[in-house]
Amino acid sequence: MTTNLETQKRKPYKGIAMEGIVAKQYDRVQKHMIEQYKAWAKLASDSIPLNGSVLEVAPGPGYLSIEIAKLGNYSITGLDISKTFVKIAQSKAEKAGVKVDFRQGDAANMPFEAESFDFIVCTSAFKNFPEPVRVLDEMFRVLKAGAKALIDDMNKDTPTCKLNNFVDQMHLNRFDSYFTKTTFKSLAKSAYTKTQIQELVAQSKFKRCEIIDEDIGFEIWLKKA
Ligand SMILES: C[S@@+](CC[C@H](N)C(=O)[O-])C[C@H]1O[C@@H](n2cnc3c(N)ncnc32)[C@H](O)[C@@H]1O
Repeated sequence: MTTNLETQKRKPYKGIAMEGIVAKQYDRVQKHMIEQYKAWAKLASDSIPLNGSVLEVAPGPGYLSIEIAKLGNYSITGLDISKTFVKIAQSKAEKAGVKVDFRQGDAANMPFEAESFDFIVCTSAFKNFPEPVRVLDEMFRVLKAGAKALIDDMNKDTPTCKLNNFVDQMHLNRFDSYFTKTTFKSLAKSAYTKTQIQELVAQSKFKRCEIIDEDIGFEIWLKKA
């Protein structure tokens, strides 16, 4: 069923936009964010049981799953719509000597059995999904009972000057800095406010969430009751 907010917010499919050179450029810039991925990996690992199964939804170039894999004996799967990103992530995992099952697929229609995962994580991608409530319901379906999901994404209410300061702290070259600031400004248009996130979650099977503010975004914690 399509909800009111989802109908209003439905955005064109963005998967194709992150193929080829666009995916490679994103990967190049994200190398500078490795400390952020390590911090997210630590946050995730604190919620994953010993030898637990983890799903990263929309892992892109795979930095986060690879950092999680370094922290424990987990069974990790990454599901991304972009074929280029799946190849990049597979090659990175091989080079890092860790095992992650990166595969291609749609977060709104996941190729997994119900109750497959002990933890789900999804960073900087939720705003890109054309059917956000469907993605939430898919997360709910594939999570085990009592398990948690963490979505981290940009807050629409973040002022442009704060987004620009965030990029400046990445110490990129002039081209990458300009590219990233322009991308952030454009992504902010697709991002959600805290209230909109709460509305979307209320329409999903999770019904409620806990939101923790960050610098330019927020952590959204969900639990399958
Ligand atoms: C901005 S990137 C974020 C990548 C990664 N999570 C990170 O933090 O660097 C957005 C990702 O969402 C993926 N994506 C967009 N729509 C998707 C969908 N319907 N199913 C799975 N992945 C999707 C894109 O291919 C891309 O990898």
